[in-house]
Amino acid sequence: MKLTDDEQNMLDGCDGPAVQKAMDLLVRYGEALGAERLVQTNNVCGTFVAAGPMIREFASKGNDAIFSEFNLDSSERVEMPPVKAYTCHLVMGIDSKHPEMNAGLEDTVRIQKEGEKFFGAKGVNMLATCTPYQVGNVPVMGEHCAWMESSAVIYCNAVLGARTNTEGRESTGAASITGRIPYFGLHIPENRIATHLIDVQVPVDDMMDWGLLGYAIGEMVEEDIPAFRGLSAQPNMIKLKHFGAAAASSGGVEMYHIPGVTPETRSEEYAFGGRTPRATRVYGQAERRIAYEKLNSTARSNDVDFIMLGCPHNSIEQVGLAARLLEGKRLSPNTSLWVFTPRALKEVADRSGYTDIIRAAGGHVLTDTCPAISRIMPKDTKVVATDSAKQAHYLPAITGVQAWFGSVADCVEAAVSGRWNGRLA
Ligand code: F3S
Repeated sequence: MKLTDDEQNMLDGCDGPAVQKAMDLLVRYGEALGAERLVQTNNVCGTFVAAGPMIREFASKGNDAIFSEFNLDSSERVEMPPVKAYTCHLVMGIDSKHPEMNAGLEDTVRIQKEGEKFFGAKGVNMLATCTPYQVGNVPVMGEHCAWMESSAVIYCNAVLGARTNTEGRESTGAASITGRIPYFGLHIPENRIATHLIDVQVPVDDMMDWGLLGYAIGEMVEEDIPAFRGLSAQPNMIKLKHFGAAAASSGGVEMYHIPGVTPETRSEEYAFGGRTPRATRVYGQAERRIAYEKLNSTARSNDVDFIMLGCPHNSIEQVGLAARLLEGKRLSPNTSLWVFTPRALKEVADRSGYTDIIRAAGGHVLTDTCPAISRIMPKDTKVVATDSAKQAHYLPAITGVQAWFGSVADCVEAAVSGRWNGRLA
C-alpha cells in the first residue's frame, strides 16, 4: 500500500503507540482488501463504549484496555489519544436512562455511563443512535466516511451520496484516531454504478410498502447495486430509511439508485454508467406477497406480547404518528409497547407532548439501543409485532421469539387489542 508521508509517520510511531497500532491495522486491513491507498475521512460512526459480554471481562481493566482490545484489535493496552476525525457513537448496549429497560442492570448502567464519559472526553460524540443522519450527522455528496451499521451505511451512500463501506468496530476505531480509511469498494466511483435493473410493477407508497420492497430486493440482488424503474410516488427520509434497512437485512445492499431521487442518479442510463444491466428483475404483486409472507413466517400465535416501533430509530414524525394513533387509548393488559428514537429526539418528543400520550396509553419511549442489539425485551415476551422489516428479520433469529410485521397502525391496534389482525392490502 502506498502511504503519504503523514501516514508513514503515523505508522512509524511519531504520533504515539495507539496511532501506530491504528495505522498498522488499517494497512493490514486495506492490503487484505486490495486497497492501494488510504483516503482521508473526517466522518466516523462507530462504537466505543463497552457493551454485552465485554463488560464482564473488560470493565475492570478500564476504557483504554477496551479501546485497545476492541477498537484496535490489540491485547497490549495503549492509551487512547483524542480523536482526529469527527466521530459519532452509534447505538449503546442498553438505554441507561430508562428503568423500563435497565432494571437489575445497575452495574451495566454505571459502566456504560463511565464509558460515555471517557470516550466523550476523547471527542466521541454520544449520538447513541443507528440513525446519525437524523440528529445532525449529515455528510455531503462525495464525502468519504467510515461508518458501521448497515442501515446507516446504505442511507449514507444512496440517499446522501456520501461514500462509505460497511466498516467494523476496529476499522472505525482506527479511523477515528488517524483520520484515514482504506480506499476501496464504495469509495471508488466505478464501484457505485448499478448492476441490476428492478422493474417495479406495483405501487410503492407507504412505509410498509417500502419495507417490503427493500426486503424483496435484498434477496434478489444480495450485495449488488439495484437501480429502480417504475417508482412513481415520492419517498421521504422515513421511507428510504426503512427501505434501506430492509434491503441491508435480507441481502447486503449498501448502495442503490432511484432516478430523480438519489443524488447520483440523474437518469437510468446514468445509474448504469452507460453499461447494460447485468440482470433485470420484476417486483410485482407476487414478489410483494412473498416478502410479506417471509417476514411473517415465524409467527404462529395471534396473541401479541410486545410491540416494538423504531427500527431504525424513529424520526420525530414517527413518534408523533404513534402518539396520535394511541391518543385516548390504553394498551391491552397483556402487551408492552416500546418506541425507540434517538435520545436527542426524545427531548423533542417530551416537549411536544408525544411521550406523555404514549405513557398515558401504557407505552414507553426509549432511546440509545433496541431489542436486537440489547437482547432485552419485556419479561416473558414470546410474540412480537413490529413495523420494521429489519427487526422482524433479526429478532426471531437472535432471541427465538415469533414476529409479526405490518404497518404502524397494525402494530398500534395489536398493542391495544392484544391480538394481531394485520394483513396485506
Ligand atoms: Fe437500529 Fe437496532 Fe434496528 S440498531 S437499525 S433499531 S436493529
